[in-house]
Amino acid sequence: MKMKKKILDILKRRGIVYPSFEIYGGASGFYDYGPIGSRIKHNIENLIREYYVIWEGCFEVECPTLSPEKVWIASGHVKNFTDMLTECLKCGESYRADHLVEEHLGISCEGKSIDELYELIRGNEIHCPKCNGTLDRVYHYNLMFKTEVGHPGKIWYLRPETAQSTYLAFKRLWEIGRKQLPMGVLQIGRSFRNEISPRQGMIRLREFNQAEIQFFVEPEKKFSERFHEVSNIKAKMVTKDEKEVVTSLADALRRGIIKIEMIAYFLGRSIQLFEEMGIKRDSLKLRQHKDEERAFYSSDTWDIEFVSENLGRIELVGISDRTDYDLRAHMNLSGEDMTVNYEGKKFIPHVIEVAYGIDRPFYCVLESCLVEEKERTYMKFPRRIAPYLAAVFPLVNKDGIPEKSRGVFELLRKNRVYTLYDQSGSIGRRYARADEIGIPFCITIDYDTLEDNTVTIRDRDTKEQKRVKIDEVVDYIVKV
Ligand code: GLY
Repeated sequence: MKMKKKILDILKRRGIVYPSFEIYGGASGFYDYGPIGSRIKHNIENLIREYYVIWEGCFEVECPTLSPEKVWIASGHVKNFTDMLTECLKCGESYRADHLVEEHLGISCEGKSIDELYELIRGNEIHCPKCNGTLDRVYHYNLMFKTEVGHPGKIWYLRPETAQSTYLAFKRLWEIGRKQLPMGVLQIGRSFRNEISPRQGMIRLREFNQAEIQFFVEPEKKFSERFHEVSNIKAKMVTKDEKEVVTSLADALRRGIIKIEMIAYFLGRSIQLFEEMGIKRDSLKLRQHKDEERAFYSSDTWDIEFVSENLGRIELVGISDRTDYDLRAHMNLSGEDMTVNYEGKKFIPHVIEVAYGIDRPFYCVLESCLVEEKERTYMKFPRRIAPYLAAVFPLVNKDGIPEKSRGVFELLRKNRVYTLYDQSGSIGRRYARADEIGIPFCITIDYDTLEDNTVTIRDRDTKEQKRVKIDEVVDYIVKV
C-alpha cells in the first residue's frame, strides 16, 4: 500500500480525521477532526502555545472569526486577496487559471497577469479538463467568504487570517502590556478561504486552523537577544533568486542570505518546534518568497516547507516582515492613532509575523511518524503529541480482571494521565490498534495482577514488556 493511501486509511479507520458532511455527499476543503485527531491537534497547538507564551513571553488572545467589511478594506484584502479564475462555458466548472496552465504546460505562472494567462489558455488550446468545453476569460476572484450580519446589506467577512483581528486591538494590548517592545501576541483559531477547487486533502482547506504570532517591534530593531540559542542550526535554504545553500542560520545572516535577525531566529525556533512535534529535520527546507509571490502586506517572507513523499512541498510556517503596513492601514481608515511614544521616539511599530498552519503540520507529523515494519504499522509520536499516554487492557473480561483494570484506569485518570480503556478483541489486536494511533504505553492486567498487584507495561517502540507494581505505574510512564 502506498504511504499516502496507508495514512488516509489510518486517518479514517481510527477516527483521526475524516471528510465533513459525509452523509450529505461531503464537500472538498472541509474535514472533521475525530476523537483521536482532536487530541493530537490540541497537543500540537499546546506545544506552539508553550513555545510562544512561556518561552517568548507572548500574550494570547482570541477574537471573532467574522468581522465588518471595513476591516478588510483597510487591510487590503478586499482588493488584493484574490486568485485568478476561469470557468468552463459549457459545464460551469471553475479552475484556478495559473494551476491549470502550470499543469498543462509545465511552466511556472508566478507573476503572470490575467490577460497573460488567458492568452496562454487560448494560444495552447487548453480546454476544460472535465468536459473539454471552452474556457472563459480569466478574472480576479476574492477568496474571502462574504455574509451579512444584522441588517441585510451590511457586509461582513469570515477572516482569511487571524492576524488582522490581533492588530485591531493593538492600542489596548499596548496599554495592557505596560508599553513595552517587542510585544508578542499569539492567536490560535480558525480562518477561512474560499479556495476554488481544493484537491489536496488536508493541505488546502476552506476552513482551517492557524497559530499566528504578531511581534510588534521598533522599526530599526528586528533583532533577538536569544539568537545565539539557534544560530548553529543548519538548514537547506532556497533564496528568492533560487540559490540553494546548506548553512547555519548565523552564516546565512552574515552572508545576507537572510537579512533580518528576528526572521532567522524564528526560523530556528520553528525548526526546533517541528522536530519536537516529530517532524524529521532533514525533510525541512527554508524558502524565501519571490517578489511576485509574496503577499501584498509583506516586505520579506521566509517559509519552512516540509518535503512530503506523497504531496510534494508543504508550507508549515511563514515568517514575514509586515513592516507598519497593517497598523498604518487601520490607523488611516479607523482614525485610531496607532503610534507609540517609546524611549523618546514616536512611531508606528513594525510587525514580524510568525504564521503557523495547524492542519498542515498535523499531516506532516503523521507522515513523519508513520513506521511500517513487517508485522505492524505504528505511529512513533513523541509523547507530547500522542493522543493518549497509556492504554489499559484487561487480559480477559472475567474473574475480577475488569474490576482490577478499572482501578488502574481510575488511578491514571486521577493523576491526569490521558488514558484509553480497551477491552474488546484479542490482546494482539488491541496492541495493533494502540500502535496505529501511537499510544506510547499499553498496560495489561492479568491473573498475576490479582496475586501480586503488578501489571505488564509494553513500550510502543521497542515492544519490550516490563512488570511494574501498580503503585509505581504513574511514575514509570511519566518518567521513562
Ligand atoms: N497571516 C498570514 C497568513 O495567513 O498566511
